[in-house]
Amino acid sequence: MDYLAAIDKRVSRRHFTKDPVLPMQITALQRALDESNGSGGLNMKMIIGRGEPFSARNSFGMFSGVQNYIILAGPESDKNCEEKLGYFGEGIVLLAVSLGLGTCWVGGTYSRELVSENIEPDEVMKCCIVFGNVKPRFSPKELAVSKSLKRNIKEVKDRLYVEETPPNWVVAGMRSVVKAPSARNRQSTMFIYASDRVSAKIDMKNDMDPYDLGIAKLHFEIGAGIGKGSWDFGNGAVYERHEKD
Ligand SMILES: Cc1cc2nc3c(=O)[nH]c(=O)nc-3n(C[C@H](O)[C@H](O)[C@H](O)COP(=O)(O)O)c2cc1C
Repeated sequence: MDYLAAIDKRVSRRHFTKDPVLPMQITALQRALDESNGSGGLNMKMIIGRGEPFSARNSFGMFSGVQNYIILAGPESDKNCEEKLGYFGEGIVLLAVSLGLGTCWVGGTYSRELVSENIEPDEVMKCCIVFGNVKPRFSPKELAVSKSLKRNIKEVKDRLYVEETPPNWVVAGMRSVVKAPSARNRQSTMFIYASDRVSAKIDMKNDMDPYDLGIAKLHFEIGAGIGKGSWDFGNGAVYERHEKD
């Protein structure tokens, strides 16, 4: 499955089965984590078979059956660290989905203390990604949670300011942006197309905003064509198109 197909398939999953993830899935995820840690200067870690921080009690009933997760940690000294964790973390989410696994970003409904045992003192760690095997269909409770969070789904026109008619690659990028996960489904990263350039901006009013920014930027990059352009990190930074259509 390619990344565009994974974007279409991805939806937050909160109830996991007892089936363990396969060694080949773990190997593929670990390889991607190593590459992303190298590219982003991050320290994301995979934990297998220990889901206590996301138990029903610690997650206020939001999750069940969590056994595996990825700790999203990186150096506090990097001012773009959290945005990078969003960008590279979402790459891991889409890989997990393409491997047939269910995933959910978690920034609030878990015990941060239980995860923090694995964090260095000079690192920032607010979010994790839980992953594992899921049933093809939502359980009734999972469906109810998903529906209550996703009541409002914004459209491309609500997320893109334009000064002139945008080219097809901008519209394609935005079609992937509107499918991105965001904390409390806020969908608040805005894109601007002006003078033949795209930039992305978020208010930075909420704790999770840098993660949402990084996630939305990765979705744009995939939708606009993998390898055809790349982002600078930073709020308001620009997408550089390498290939003109
Ligand atoms: C940074 C971030 C933090 C999140 N934190 C939580 C969380 O603590 N608990 C939870 O159940 N879902 C969490 N989510 C999942 C969102 O609620 C979900 O992405 C949103 O409702 C859109 O639904 P979808 O992912 O199914 O498209 C988080 C998502 C993001 C991106």
